[in-house]
Amino acid sequence: MKILFLNGPNLNLLGQRETGIYGRATLAEVEKKVRKRAEELKARIEFRQSNVEGELVSWIQEAKGKFDAIVLNAAAYTHTSLALRDAIAAVAVPTIEVHLSNVHAREKIRHKSLIAPVCVGQISGFGATSYILGLEAAVNINDS
Ligand code: DQA
Repeated sequence: MKILFLNGPNLNLLGQRETGIYGRATLAEVEKKVRKRAEELKARIEFRQSNVEGELVSWIQEAKGKFDAIVLNAAAYTHTSLALRDAIAAVAVPTIEVHLSNVHAREKIRHKSLIAPVCVGQISGFGATSYILGLEAAVNINDS
């Protein structure tokens, strides 16, 4: 299986950014954990981050035919981006929404996800483990 991990804006600052909410692990450390588990599960992964909405849209479009699933932490674009939602709906590559923090336990503005209706499901609130759970959901996507 080939799984594409996409990370949205400000996630390049993990480890220094609001550590009380997002923890001390950097994005590179999260990637390392995901790669280790992916090896055990015999899944191939690609791991990318962008602060640019259009770049994330292009990567989702390009995933069609190349990846079996997408694990997406769209960060703040989760709550604002109709473009990301339309891209996910257009390519129909099964997509799993992940968040480090529990977005539902935070400010009201974060309770709404524009992408949730076009994702297979949402994993939120487990820190870096959200990515591992996302990976496991992706590997088993054809059973769900
Ligand atoms: C986040 C939650 C979002 O609300 C926020 O804008 C982020 C990170 C998370 O992983 O908890 O940047 O997606």
